[in-house]
Amino acid sequence: MTTDRSPLFFPAGAAAQADPRGELAQGLLQPAAAVAPKYFYDRLGSALFAAITELPEYYPTRTEAAIFERHGGDIAQALHHRLGSGMTMVDLGAGDSAKAARLFPALQLARYVAVDISEAFLRQSLQALQQRFPALEVVGVGLDFSERLALPEGRVSGPALVFYPGSSIGNFAPADALRLLREARELAAGGGLLIGVDLFKPVPVLEAAYADALGVTAAFNLNLLRHVNRLLGSDFEVADWRHVALFNARASRVEMHLQARHDLTVSWPGGQRRFVAGERIHTENSYKWAAHEFEALLHDAGWRDLRCWTDPRDWFGVFLAFA
Ligand code: AVJ
Repeated sequence: MTTDRSPLFFPAGAAAQADPRGELAQGLLQPAAAVAPKYFYDRLGSALFAAITELPEYYPTRTEAAIFERHGGDIAQALHHRLGSGMTMVDLGAGDSAKAARLFPALQLARYVAVDISEAFLRQSLQALQQRFPALEVVGVGLDFSERLALPEGRVSGPALVFYPGSSIGNFAPADALRLLREARELAAGGGLLIGVDLFKPVPVLEAAYADALGVTAAFNLNLLRHVNRLLGSDFEVADWRHVALFNARASRVEMHLQARHDLTVSWPGGQRRFVAGERIHTENSYKWAAHEFEALLHDAGWRDLRCWTDPRDWFGVFLAFA
């Protein structure tokens, strides 16, 4: 007889459940208006991001997948050599857990801790994952770690592998990335870090990846306004705004903005903001690292014994490091 396992859930901490209205209003009222990129991901936003990963212009997802496909054996071997089998993986921004699950056969984990801002989404996907991997201890944690990464007490014991694929680290400015990587090192408690990072490359390639011919990225960016309307009670009209993506060479980042097509006023309960034609709302930064600079950042964060696997064009890096 076998005992059926089911995933354990830890609800979002106070931070993730906090009312987002204050943060949204504050961002919109700044002289240079901004909304954090986490607000892209309502249901439609998550579906549009999944569509982006299928676009010919958006190379990061398939390039990273090819690196794991080609070097997964080497990566698993390096991990086992240092951490043995039966380790815990902590998956940051797990989503549907598909990337992690592809590594499960090679990694022989004992526990899988999936962390994601959307607890509802985690619940669905982890039920299905538990069916596929009945022997694995599956834990879900609903948490927004963009301000601070700390799991509920007792969720990770002993050395863990922190898994942060997809170049989501690219949303963080270097100083914030450093902080997050330090917090990840605390969390790993003597374990490791496996992280995917989009690398600097010719600017036309970068800009096309964020301004695709079908306009899927434009829809993804504009959809944020509808999400904000629901959360804040604001009256943004999608048709009043234009998608802008540009590479900021000084900061080495792709920026996404929403630009007002004409003078307009946006109102919400308790506030309003006037935008003149051409004025922008900054919605995302996606930093593009040189491999050696990212290695220096990992080192500054206290990570050691760094290894990096890339694709033949050096467009994307998968870095492994130990605490
Ligand atoms: C999920 C943050 C890695 O920056 O490339 C894709 C999000 N934005 N297209 C990225 C995104 C526009 C993506 N990350």
